Amino acid sequence: MPSHCQALPEQCWVDAETGVVSRAAFVDDDLYHLENARIFERQWVFLGHETEIPNTGDYVTRSLAGAPVVVIRGDGGEVSVLLNSCRHRGTKVCRSDSGNTKRFVCPYHGWTYDRGGKLLTTTFDQHFPRDFDFTTMALPRVPRVAVYKGLIFGCWNEGVLPLADFLGDFAWYLDPFLSRSPEGMEVLAPPHRWRAKANWKVGALNFVGDSQHILTTHIGPLTLDPVRAARAGFATAAENSFQVAADNGHGCTLTYLAPGLPPEAYQTHPRELAPLYEQCLQADQNELLKSLRVIVGTVFPNLSFIETQVGPAKKAIIMRQWQPISGTEMEVLSWILAEKEASPEYKAEVLRQGFHNFGIAGVFEQDDLELWASATDASNNSIAKQYPYSFHTAAPYFKNPEQQSQWPGRVYKPSDTEVAQLAFMVHWQACMSALT
Ligand code: FES
Ligand SMILES: [Fe+2]
Repeated sequence: MPSHCQALPEQCWVDAETGVVSRAAFVDDDLYHLENARIFERQWVFLGHETEIPNTGDYVTRSLAGAPVVVIRGDGGEVSVLLNSCRHRGTKVCRSDSGNTKRFVCPYHGWTYDRGGKLLTTTFDQHFPRDFDFTTMALPRVPRVAVYKGLIFGCWNEGVLPLADFLGDFAWYLDPFLSRSPEGMEVLAPPHRWRAKANWKVGALNFVGDSQHILTTHIGPLTLDPVRAARAGFATAAENSFQVAADNGHGCTLTYLAPGLPPEAYQTHPRELAPLYEQCLQADQNELLKSLRVIVGTVFPNLSFIETQVGPAKKAIIMRQWQPISGTEMEVLSWILAEKEASPEYKAEVLRQGFHNFGIAGVFEQDDLELWASATDASNNSIAKQYPYSFHTAAPYFKNPEQQSQWPGRVYKPSDTEVAQLAFMVHWQACMSALT
């Protein structure tokens, strides 16, 4: 190894002191398998939104720690999550992305399961041993399922801590975007899904706090739309904006409008909905939303969100999931949400603008994807892997959060360092070392 590269010890991929992270963490398939064992099989993972399955029998198919699962609304209204793999020879018993069903019929040999996963019948019941107990051949259920303000999470680990404890102080930041009206948020359409040739953490880090890429990666859309660029005012707003590193690896970046804009620019809340926010949120949470240009954040490990303005006094919330497929590939799911109380016209506009910016062909999405794939491709070789990634702009800040901050979590200013990203990676390292 050349003397000028910085080797990290075995099983240590993150050096918070100096601010470097091994490239292996972003390309190696061995680490992808270790992540499944130490993170995705052990911790709460997002599965979907309650409004995707409002009625009995509604389901969506998702993935949990690499295993295909069906998330279904049961007869009693509860949400169950079942392994989507037949107990006979393993075929997926549910083949659609979403739908409504009374039972699942395996397309291979016809075994039939009810909505709770119980095996109802095989096509050759008469040949089974006489005393055979069919209940032993149910579809395995994910043992822990919990809902937070509409977000459904599941966990294969029975002993996982309660979801509220897992979200910890980060829930305070989620509430203004999940429960700021009496009826809450709804998903406006099925998620866009696409594959990206990049490690899942690239997306998680980009959303937890990568303010530095905006004026280079996205200079195209910003240049083409000078109004948007002026409103964004990212460079001048960084001093008033901040990053948060919360419990358990969660974090976010809040960017506020630059000073000196016309007064109407600061009217960011939708007029029809603003009174509901006042009613549902704590005073300090309403304060947080004032003049907020954009918030991006990540719930560890792989749920991200962004709220951004999609027009005067119109805001779209986009939720993201970065599903690992291998060390160098992920599937991205992207939902758009709005308040249930919003008018149909408002929802239509949010949906249109939301996908325009952050759908599969979204203008910002395309910018990011190309560069994420390039980074992955250029890092995935034994030469490049000798040179760790730089998180140096995080190192001077990491141990120095704002002492007097009024907000929960560890709060850092300004907002254009990489400190939230480093905090995410430090937590990831702790999970991978089985220290959590
Ligand atoms: S694999 Fe499902 S019935 Fe055979
Ligand atoms: Fe981006």
